[in-house]
Amino acid sequence: MTTSAAEIEQQKQASAEAAALLVEDGQKVGLGTGSTVAYLLPALAARNLKRMRWVATSPRTEAAARALGLQVEPFELSELDVAIDGADQVAPDGWLIKGGGGAHTRERLVAAAADRFVVIASSDKTVERLHAPVPLELHEFGLASTLRRLPMARLRPDTPRSPDNGLIADLHEPIDDPAALAQRLEATPGIVDHGLFPSAMVHDVLIARASGVEHLRI
Ligand code: A5P
Repeated sequence: MTTSAAEIEQQKQASAEAAALLVEDGQKVGLGTGSTVAYLLPALAARNLKRMRWVATSPRTEAAARALGLQVEPFELSELDVAIDGADQVAPDGWLIKGGGGAHTRERLVAAAADRFVVIASSDKTVERLHAPVPLELHEFGLASTLRRLPMARLRPDTPRSPDNGLIADLHEPIDDPAALAQRLEATPGIVDHGLFPSAMVHDVLIARASGVEHLRI
């Protein structure tokens, strides 16, 4: 049975609202980027928590959060209590692909700083195995030579640069072993970061389904 677009939106909202309840007053919280996080921000604002410190993974999240009264500060904290973010693909073992919105470099930095990284997703994000494309962020310097090392990578058309001036691309090659591919990408000069997030980074996955929100502890 296919899930309608309206049901997917309801699921995004349900997973985001469940995640908002995991946050406690006084915490330092990282805010992800994307259409699922768009439901998280009002749910957090509605909790009216007084002693929070917020950081955002993108200028658009920062603007949306500020419009709701969440006082986002620059990411100058050494650690966060929680980060909450969406994903493009969620594998059964907790590996993720992120970066559909091109924000994966900052998203990884924020997730890595958090004691608890919570992933929120509608049921259509679950996959049996991760598959292409893998989002990339590339340095402009030496771009032609970087692309020569990555023959299956394509610059994403009509996409603005990252806030850190990187170019957004997608790698269209089969993913047999996500860890091996991640390692290879990390060893490739010219790649700022990629969208493969290991399960070791993930603590909770909240998948919303027709039957309710499933809470996986990874
Ligand atoms: C942003 O670059 C991405 O990593 C998003 O977190 C991811 O694409 C999920 O976005 P949606 O919630 O819009 O599906």
